[in-house]
Amino acid sequence: MCGIVGYVATETSLRGSEVVAGGLARLEYRGYDSAGIAVAGDSFALVKKAGPLQALLDELAAHPLPEHSCAIGHTRWATHGAPSDANAHPHVSFDSKIALVHNGIIENVAELREELAARHIALSSETDSEVVCHHLALAYAKTGDLSAAMGDVVTRLEGSFTLVAFTPDDPQRLLAARRNSPLVVGLGDGENYVGSDVAAFVDQTRTAIELGQDQIVELTGTEVSIRTFDGEPVEGTTYEVDWDADAAVKGGYPTFMEKEIHDEPAAVADTLLARTDDTGHLHLDELRIDPAILRQVDKIVVIACGTAAYAGHVAKYAIEHWCRIPVEIELAHEFRYRDPVVSEKTLIVAISQSGETMDTLMAVRHAREQGAKVLAIVNTHGSTIARESDAVLYTHAGPEVAVASTKAFVAQITACYILGLYLAQLRGNKYIDEISGYLDQLGRMPGKIAQILEKEDEIADLARSLKDATSVLFLGRHVGYPIAMEGALKLKELAYIHAEGFAAGELKHGPIALIESGQPVFVICPTPRRPLLHNKVISNIEEIRARGASVMCIAEEGDEAAARAADHLITVPQAPTLMHPLLTVVPLQIFACALAEAKGLNVDKPRNLAKAVTVE
Ligand code: G6P
Repeated sequence: MCGIVGYVATETSLRGSEVVAGGLARLEYRGYDSAGIAVAGDSFALVKKAGPLQALLDELAAHPLPEHSCAIGHTRWATHGAPSDANAHPHVSFDSKIALVHNGIIENVAELREELAARHIALSSETDSEVVCHHLALAYAKTGDLSAAMGDVVTRLEGSFTLVAFTPDDPQRLLAARRNSPLVVGLGDGENYVGSDVAAFVDQTRTAIELGQDQIVELTGTEVSIRTFDGEPVEGTTYEVDWDADAAVKGGYPTFMEKEIHDEPAAVADTLLARTDDTGHLHLDELRIDPAILRQVDKIVVIACGTAAYAGHVAKYAIEHWCRIPVEIELAHEFRYRDPVVSEKTLIVAISQSGETMDTLMAVRHAREQGAKVLAIVNTHGSTIARESDAVLYTHAGPEVAVASTKAFVAQITACYILGLYLAQLRGNKYIDEISGYLDQLGRMPGKIAQILEKEDEIADLARSLKDATSVLFLGRHVGYPIAMEGALKLKELAYIHAEGFAAGELKHGPIALIESGQPVFVICPTPRRPLLHNKVISNIEEIRARGASVMCIAEEGDEAAARAADHLITVPQAPTLMHPLLTVVPLQIFACALAEAKGLNVDKPRNLAKAVTVE
């Protein structure tokens, strides 16, 4: 996790700290338990504070920094050591020669720490990052060459790291390195930048370079040179960032979460864009997997965590139905550490908004080692999972900043559906007119989601009426089942309320024992045009109401039976069964967000969570 920003220029000014502070604000979603900044020019200065970024900004306002030509900043999500001023980054070496920020976890920190103890170098924090900082200083002391020192140190580190460092001896140079953690370079005019992702510097430049695995970058205000850890020069490929700075701010909404829920129609529409040719055939040019291999796939395993895994659950219903390929859903961390049965005929679909979730990344690597092809469904361009997979299908949800995922979820379902239809086309499971029909249905979803957003106030009123609830249950059947689980997850994440999602059919096998008078239960009702499913869910509603549950039902407009059965009805526009999840999840997201706000909670930054979980 953690957000990193670096700045270096030819001139000395106050710009570096301004650029870094702006970048940290946009990266705060990566972690927010402390923040810090270090600068160097004619003199060196360091400020770091526990608490949200604002604490650091207040400190900087009270005690302005000296002019500088380089600056590094960090916003932290604690791994080694509690959130505190001392554990905040940047760290400064024992001889004050190195300032360093780090994202990741150093796994061989114990032995590195012992070496420092043997040299009587005292540590002032509990972090693994400080240990690296001192080792960099030791290496630098030997040669007086920071670039060579960085090269030495990275080969000694095990685990995951992005490092950015400077020495006050040479304040017109930054050194950065990465392994298993993200780092991108931004190219400016007389100044250059590094960041955990492009949000760090997108208000300064749109021209960026992705750094590959095990690479070091050396930057001055005018030059950027990249090499591997082995010292081989690398020609970095520049690309233009298509996000603008406005996309990374709240767009007039009080919270990122509300903005991002309102972005959902666009997230689905943009993810569908430009996927077909004039004849209606799906073309996924970015799928670099040989069609002959895709034709032979005999099993799909979706690996993901959190909300992304629930998108995979939804996709299972569609892909199995359309392609007749068995689809399994695996939490990435469970997949990785057992002995999964995969072969060359298994297609792994890794779903991740950030593309940096370490559990998912490790599972991707494991699957590829077993000979399986990996297709990533990722929102963040240039992220590690995208780069390490055989193929990528990007969701186009734009930057998702609120920690709990909303718009990425609907974009992930959309991308999975595009994949399913593509496979059905390739393997001849569906005729082209059938595929066009499904694409038309998908194309109508953004407008239908927008209709649900118009009911925001009504849903928020319901949420406010339940602000003192201590437990809420969610029931769904078929594609409504994963939506029930996602609705429960949203409520846990945002409102810290105990919530569980169940398959409605499972109710009588246990969960019904939880029902007592007044128990709030959300029920996701299938379309009445599928009576087999619908009637069973209506019966489930009767069963729990008979035991005192207070039932909030999400059902299609015109569903009379649901209207009669429910205590509270939230309607969504009519849609085919497989498209329902794109609609029914929206009221649940609004509900969780509004309930959390009614409790006075910060919906963008729920406690204990981080957006990109880059540690296992
Ligand atoms: C964290 C976030 C969740 C997200 C999950 C997977 O737990 O808090 O919102 O669903 O990671 O993230 P990914 O970036 O891989 O989709």
